[in-house]
Amino acid sequence: MEHTGQHAKRDGFSSGFGVLAATLGSAVGLGNIWKFPYLTGANGGASFLLVYVIATLLVALPVMIAEIALGRKAKANPITALQTLAPGRLPWWLIGASGMLAAFLILSFYSEVVAWVFAYVAKSVAGSVLSSDRAVTEAAFGTLISDPVQSLVWQWVVLLSMGGILLLGVAKGIEALTKKLMPLLFLLLVLLCAVSLSLEKAADGLAFLFNPDFGKLTGGVVLTALGLAFFKLSIGMGTMMTYGSYFRDDQDIPATAMRVMSADLCVSLLAGIAIFPAVFTFGFEPAAGPALVFITIPAVFAQIPMGQALMVVFFVLTAIAATGATLSLMEVPVLIIQERFGLPRRKATGVTLGLLALTGSTCALTNSTLAGVTLFGMNLFDLFDFVSSNLLLPAGGIFIALFVGWVWGLDSFRQALSNEGRLRNDRLAYMVYFLLRFVSPLLILVVMLKGLNLI
Ligand code: TRP
Repeated sequence: MEHTGQHAKRDGFSSGFGVLAATLGSAVGLGNIWKFPYLTGANGGASFLLVYVIATLLVALPVMIAEIALGRKAKANPITALQTLAPGRLPWWLIGASGMLAAFLILSFYSEVVAWVFAYVAKSVAGSVLSSDRAVTEAAFGTLISDPVQSLVWQWVVLLSMGGILLLGVAKGIEALTKKLMPLLFLLLVLLCAVSLSLEKAADGLAFLFNPDFGKLTGGVVLTALGLAFFKLSIGMGTMMTYGSYFRDDQDIPATAMRVMSADLCVSLLAGIAIFPAVFTFGFEPAAGPALVFITIPAVFAQIPMGQALMVVFFVLTAIAATGATLSLMEVPVLIIQERFGLPRRKATGVTLGLLALTGSTCALTNSTLAGVTLFGMNLFDLFDFVSSNLLLPAGGIFIALFVGWVWGLDSFRQALSNEGRLRNDRLAYMVYFLLRFVSPLLILVVMLKGLNLI
């Protein structure tokens, strides 16, 4: 299982279903349960959702297919992959390097949100957060994030768990966890939706989520929706390239990407339907920000028999889904350090986690020790999120699209998508190629410039 160098034999996913489950395990995570609801709430609801779906179809899905195809072709970490596929020309490998930076920024705040989920497992067991009273659930969350010791220690627990799991290796660690538990989380979300839909002001929640008010769209909102589309599908920084490098040669890449995208969207929608009816019924603020899920979900569980036990299960499953996503994020720096610096996997994992304990602590302490520290009007937690999701991932997307569309070329791309001619998906390949060559890069560029008020 140890990787020793660039040419060491690589682990592969063991089966077609394993590939789907593992890729889904990277996509589904706190992005669905935490980020999607809070951003939708903060950016006006249905109109944001619509832009997000369009961005997913026109931009994120093609880029996801491109990334997986590149990774499978090169069978290496993102930096080496791009050097191999485009030797000696422009510095395309910078995409991999920027991906490594994005991974650290994302992991810094993501590990803290996983820390909150871990803490909520404990709080649910103790029974201290189960309530439909806004004051109670808000106070419980506020106490947690404003306590520097709790925030830090839970983050260390998260990082240590990641270290343990990562050392088991890709195929075993990730596959085993996600395969078994994803369906359970799905079922629990369906139950939560049913409960939420029976609440008094469910209709208001649904209207907020599905009845668009386009007056609420600004350049910034559209950029946030695009950033979310990248974040959701784990693209723009090499994660999917890394996963692609483990794909088997007979795996249908576009079909897998489409299934992952659809399942991921379903989970996000379920989380939204579980949350917004409760927001309106119990008088929460849709724009509550990162706190949203943590303060509203307990209010839903407080409505049902065995609510406490089910809430424990909910946070445990969320913790596991989040862990799967975190592992996929770590896979990029770990693999780069391992293959580029020739370190054994164990050491590469240790180095990554050590660095993360440092950068992550700034996000853990954002609401306590470092509360006054802001840059560009954002605290460090929000800044890391903004720079990674709204700048680095979309920029990575532009270059991945340009690379496939203008350097790698139609023939290589078609060959890769059809598994060297064994699948009949030529028309699809042309379509995705057209999007990658012309549509996605331009669209991303315009949205970024507009979102940053540069045009
Ligand atoms: N997609 C994951 C989620 O929604 C987060 C994630 C995992 C990610 N790997 C990534 C985001 C790579 C960006 C890039 O929770």
